Amino acid sequence: MSHNPQRLCAIDELPEGESKGFDLDGDGQDELFVVHREGVLYAYRNSCPHQPGAPMAWRRHAYLNKEASLIVCFAHGAQFDIESGLCIDGPCQGASLTAVPLSQDRDGNVYLTE
Ligand code: FES
Repeated sequence: MSHNPQRLCAIDELPEGESKGFDLDGDGQDELFVVHREGVLYAYRNSCPHQPGAPMAWRRHAYLNKEASLIVCFAHGAQFDIESGLCIDGPCQGASLTAVPLSQDRDGNVYLTE
């Protein structure tokens, strides 16, 4: 059986300093989100470690603080390091988001690698 990685988006759809959610199964809730920071894409499950399964954005695609320097869960304000997914402040300090591995081809297409 051949395994084709699922294409998420083109890198152009994800400007530097922005986040974007993806509703892969079309149930109306994003399962994961991607952050573009300093040329690198980071993807995490949209599930806050404070209350596993709790979605984190305050509106669609809004996963970051105003300065776009941290990921924020808008339920109770947990703040996460973008690069590591570690909660650095808030009710689940020390816990981590679940990273989702991505890959990118030369044409700028972004894929899920799992
Ligand atoms: S559910 Fe995310 S901080 Fe409480």
